[in-house]
Amino acid sequence: MKALVLAGGAGTRLRPFTHTSAKQLMPIANRPVLFYGLDAIRAAGITEAGIVVGDTAAEIRAAVGDGSRFGLAVTYLPQEAPLGLAHAVRVARDYLGGDDFLMYLGDNFFGDGIGAVADRFRRERPGAELLLAKVPDPRAYGVAELDPDGAVRRLAEKPRRPRSDLAVTGVYAFTPDVHEQVDRLRPSRRGELEITDAIQGLIDSGRRVTATRTGGDWKDIGSAAGLLEANRAVLDRLAADPARDHRIDGAGGVSGPVVAEPGAWLEGSRVTGPAVIGAGARIIGSVIGPHTSIGAGCRVEHSEIEDSVLLPGATVRGAGPVRGSLLGHASEVAATAPARRCQRLVLGDHSKVLIDP
Ligand code: G1P
Repeated sequence: MKALVLAGGAGTRLRPFTHTSAKQLMPIANRPVLFYGLDAIRAAGITEAGIVVGDTAAEIRAAVGDGSRFGLAVTYLPQEAPLGLAHAVRVARDYLGGDDFLMYLGDNFFGDGIGAVADRFRRERPGAELLLAKVPDPRAYGVAELDPDGAVRRLAEKPRRPRSDLAVTGVYAFTPDVHEQVDRLRPSRRGELEITDAIQGLIDSGRRVTATRTGGDWKDIGSAAGLLEANRAVLDRLAADPARDHRIDGAGGVSGPVVAEPGAWLEGSRVTGPAVIGAGARIIGSVIGPHTSIGAGCRVEHSEIEDSVLLPGATVRGAGPVRGSLLGHASEVAATAPARRCQRLVLGDHSKVLIDP
């Protein structure tokens, strides 16, 4: 079985970040979300992966390379425009040949991995196997309706009136039979070739489509809120990983699980884990955490940062409490005088905010 990893797409819900970088490389606990996916694919026993890339191809290639770091042989498959998940399958047709494949959406995060899907698919070899998650509002997703025996009866893509609360997550396993369905597709209302329509085609032609349910570990990091949630989930698992380095140079108090990358510097500051402090970051006179990831080379001075993600090179000076925030690469937050009010900021790369308290 091969893997087909989708890392094209425009990332419209994660603007402004996706104006300047690939959403699949957005960091969770200072590591690109895509890397967790590649690890999960390898852990599911797959060693060959085709990565579908679009406008951000150069960035993805620079980050992933030939895949050997992940134990994968990676082939890049350029998609000329983001025309839908089924279009990506069409682009990958020659690469996939007659093989079964596991399709993985590069902006999805599964805390418990994807082994259960791959194992069940190998055992039962249905026409397709999906991974479903119960969500409070399924209207932003593909939605599955199940038969009493648990097989998928019907799928709807982002329905206005969902017929169940089961969202289709970003992992699918297919036999090569799916190609015939993909070939028949016409663009949907949103102008894309939808994989949900291809799967419905399999069902309508009498193939069995099975579904496994995830627990609460699935995060779609396609939005700022989803990314912060995934960050919290990964950081919560830090506590259980004593192998990670907990040392920080400089003076200051650290409590709870805190991972410091090389050269992180803490001065007159307090860090409450779980938190990650990136390589060469400098934290001065500040209070950090819990649930905070500070990227490499960030500077935080005389500020409080909680439940937030700072991308590499972000600077926060005298800003008062910053919570539930996502600060882009090399963005700057400063205040004209000591600020007390809490800020919740979603700032694109290189943005500047000056708080005038
Ligand atoms: C895509 C699929 C949708 C699925 C979702 C999971 O949506 O079309 O069925 O529920 O991924 O992340 P998109 O990311 O294109 O909005």
